[in-house]
Amino acid sequence: MKVLVLGSGAREHSVTWKYANSKRISGLYIAPGNCGTGELGTNLPDVNPENIDSVLAACEEYGINQVFVGSEAPLALGIVDGLKEKGIPVFGPHKAAARLESSKTFSKNFMEKYSIPTARAKEFSDKDAFCKYIDEIDFRVVIKKNGLAAGKGVLESEDKEEIKAFGTKVLEDDTLLVEEFLTGFEVSIFALTDGLDYVLLPTCADFKKAGENDKGLNTGGMGAICPVPIIGSALMEEIKKTIVVPTFDGMTAENLGYQGILYFGLMITEKGPYLLEYNTRFGDPETQVLLPLIESDFGNLIEAILNQKLGAFPLRISHKSALGVVVAAEGYPGDYEKGLKVKPIPVFPEDSNLVFHASTVTNENRDVLTSGGRCFTVVGLGQNILNARTRAYEAVARVNFSGSWFRSDIGKKYFND
Ligand code: AMP
Ligand code: GLY
Repeated sequence: MKVLVLGSGAREHSVTWKYANSKRISGLYIAPGNCGTGELGTNLPDVNPENIDSVLAACEEYGINQVFVGSEAPLALGIVDGLKEKGIPVFGPHKAAARLESSKTFSKNFMEKYSIPTARAKEFSDKDAFCKYIDEIDFRVVIKKNGLAAGKGVLESEDKEEIKAFGTKVLEDDTLLVEEFLTGFEVSIFALTDGLDYVLLPTCADFKKAGENDKGLNTGGMGAICPVPIIGSALMEEIKKTIVVPTFDGMTAENLGYQGILYFGLMITEKGPYLLEYNTRFGDPETQVLLPLIESDFGNLIEAILNQKLGAFPLRISHKSALGVVVAAEGYPGDYEKGLKVKPIPVFPEDSNLVFHASTVTNENRDVLTSGGRCFTVVGLGQNILNARTRAYEAVARVNFSGSWFRSDIGKKYFND
């Protein structure tokens, strides 16, 4: 099997690492890739995942017969539709189904239609009506841009002037949702589906705030754990009954023909689990802690999904736990420098640590240079989440560059320490 992975983040590095360990692989390409993926396969730095012609040309040139789409933007543009038209098997939903992530109003209407517990929301396209509503309400809200915004489309604020300014800016070229603010703890549930059957993967939690103790600005995610110790079987049954099953029933009723991964972003509130959002791709950094726990051959697993044979696939999940810590550039999630030289990274034993690169590049001296805000995810693996944490933090101290930083409290809220 000749595989092309689309993306350059730590998520795509972890996907590439899974494929590299598959016995089915006869060619492994990553577009555009990073320094980490370049050690496992062939990077195609000139191929743009958001340009269908560019991806199709690469598929033809390298004889690709399985494409894995990492992030949401190519899905929303219809990369899956374009590749399937040419007969190329591809992991990910087609454009219509990708609206579950690419349109907040589409997904909110879907949740409401299928009685899935979610925060009450109101859509606005008119600035004056929006501002009047904000002036009048007496409960806390979250503002959400309808379309994709690379993690910058949601504002959580109690300051009405800030809310109005943010919403007014969004309304210049999109609609928005004003959503009731929910309190609780967040978990990420991942379901693999082939359009006929689905299986749930171990539960993850990511840590989205830049600061310790979940304070400060939202980021793409500063760390993640898998599985989440507080999710017991009773809560999992409730999540399945109230959220997962109605979602798949709804997808069948709407004929969405979804193949790939569906990510449920949940808030566990005092009143039970609520669905905040769907994502139509794997999470980042959740994937970096989730995939090391999948023991089955990854090439076989993805092939089973694309051939609609998931129901008969013997999926094996490890009993280990994983904790990942993101190493970021100084200034992130605000402005940050790129091109910083990374100190040589030690080689860690794979059964205790994994280091996934995000958007790193090399120079003519083969130094590794940063090229983004979140630069690495360092994962510790252990028999439980406590020793996974010890291993992650032992290693993360040895992955650094000028100004690099990480949160020292990933997973802490689950440990009582
Ligand atoms: P979303 O893109 O909808 O997942 O929102 C991004 C982040 O904003 C979520 O992961 C939550 O941390 C936060 N968020 C979204 N909706 C709500 C809500 N209704 N109440 C509280 N926090 C929310
Ligand atoms: N970790 C959040 C996301 O991937 O959207």
